[in-house]
Amino acid sequence: MAPDLIAPSILSADFARLGEEVDHVLAAGADIVHFDVMDNHYVPNLTIGPLVCEALRKHGVTAPIDVHLMVKPVDRIIPDFAAAGATYITFHPEASEHIDRTLQLIRNEGCKAGLVFNPATSLSYLDYVMDKVDMVLLMSVNPGFGGQSFIPETMEKLRQARKLIDASGLEIRLEVDGGVKADNIGAIKAAGADTFVSGSGIFGKGRDSDPHRYDSIIQEMRQELAR
Ligand code: DX5
Ligand code: ZN
Repeated sequence: MAPDLIAPSILSADFARLGEEVDHVLAAGADIVHFDVMDNHYVPNLTIGPLVCEALRKHGVTAPIDVHLMVKPVDRIIPDFAAAGATYITFHPEASEHIDRTLQLIRNEGCKAGLVFNPATSLSYLDYVMDKVDMVLLMSVNPGFGGQSFIPETMEKLRQARKLIDASGLEIRLEVDGGVKADNIGAIKAAGADTFVSGSGIFGKGRDSDPHRYDSIIQEMRQELAR
């Protein structure tokens, strides 16, 4: 199985000093930066766009940036995120009129492509596009806000997604997003996930500006993953 990746969601970071927050969480051992893009249309919240992604690159962030698009429509903004330095771009199938085309667009722009499944969205969207995805992202909360509780039905869905990915023989990451904390990350891994988004579970542990404030939480998550 692919190595586990811890992906802090900067949605819960201190935006007034975002570059420093990202530096510190990566120095603590996080692997990739999860970047939540919300448009107050597809989801009832408004966050950040390509400018902020580009600013993180200019600041010196070299880790992969995992752009989770919660916007509708999606195609118009994809080239902008590719130019801004996105590594992964994932989107919700309900937000695209032509899912196959959007997946191809992301890869043509030089990024890795992924589909995101809301708690009530069927995995059948994968049926005819498995060869065009690099990431399957299962939402374990309804998208729009950090700090919600993990929906337990996600566990069974993770097992189903893991089977589909293994049967495909393709190199596809299985990511989970929402309510992931040190106390459930081990069980989530056992259900098949290999990429773990955590917002409030990591940034909620921060106090003042101690550069090592995230060391212990990332370490604790690693220990739970290694069990
Ligand atoms: C929710 C976002 C998540 C969010 C997760 O729509 O996609 O990435 O930041 O936050 P926590 O880990 O606090 O549930
Ligand atoms: Zn997200």
